[in-house]
Amino acid sequence: MFISLPMAHTSSTQTLPAIPTVPRHVAIIMDGNGRWATKRFLPRFAGHGKGVEAVRTVVEACVARGVEYLTLFAFSSENWRRPADEVSLLMRLFVVALEREVSKMHANGIRLKVVGDLSRFDAKLQQMIDNAERKTAGNTTLTVTVCANYGGRWDVMQAVQKMLAARGADSAQDASVFSEEELAQHLAMAYAPEPDLFIRTGGEQRISNFLLWQLAYSELYFTDTYWPDFGAGELDQAIASYQQRERRFGRTSAQLLEQAS
Ligand code: IPE
Ligand code: IPE
Ligand code: MG
Repeated sequence: MFISLPMAHTSSTQTLPAIPTVPRHVAIIMDGNGRWATKRFLPRFAGHGKGVEAVRTVVEACVARGVEYLTLFAFSSENWRRPADEVSLLMRLFVVALEREVSKMHANGIRLKVVGDLSRFDAKLQQMIDNAERKTAGNTTLTVTVCANYGGRWDVMQAVQKMLAARGADSAQDASVFSEEELAQHLAMAYAPEPDLFIRTGGEQRISNFLLWQLAYSELYFTDTYWPDFGAGELDQAIASYQQRERRFGRTSAQLLEQAS
């Protein structure tokens, strides 16, 4: 059965993607807020507040550099394990940031998307997210995706469920013809190409259940800088590192040279 795909983005393990000089899609694990604050004898929430400022700076820098998609891990499905007061502070910060930033983002042509299992957020926050997404839906300068109550495994599971639902009752019979493309169109970020550049601040070198499927062929960049200290200069360093990489997608260097000549 042929299934027409509504999106233009293909899977990097199935089709060779274009290799842009400036990454089209940058995905960031914004880590180190707590340690930034602790180092200054401040409460952890001070680090989260500073972290919001860093988001603003990096969004502006991405617009200036022509990045098309910026994806930010703001709250993982595992972050509910934190102390209740830290979780509620993070929720409040999210509300305040939406109140303050959405109009400015809209004025700058930024489309805002929030992905994750939003059903666990309170109704007011869900409504604000919905309003912000609707208001900015037509913008094309930069798509900023905030991953909130997001987990890579949740994403793959919900995509499988949606894929099966879309196939209807006789899906079991077609089990052998599932394709990567078919699954990928049900991932929470099916509207975006896979990240070209992944950045994690804060010194840890792990994925922490971020975009498990979509990071298959992303270039990985880790920095010890805590997120509140991450700015345009740091972004440029990450992009410069990305530009040094040879993205082979399974091929050999010789093949790439041949193709270029
Ligand atoms: C990242 O900073 C922000 C969130 C996970 C919400 P952390 O709060 O994880 O900071 P560290 O890792 O404790 O320093
Ligand atoms: C990852 O950071 C999640 C976000 C940045 C939102 P964590 O600080 O929660 O990651 P781990 O638990 O140290 O791996
Ligand atoms: Mg952390």
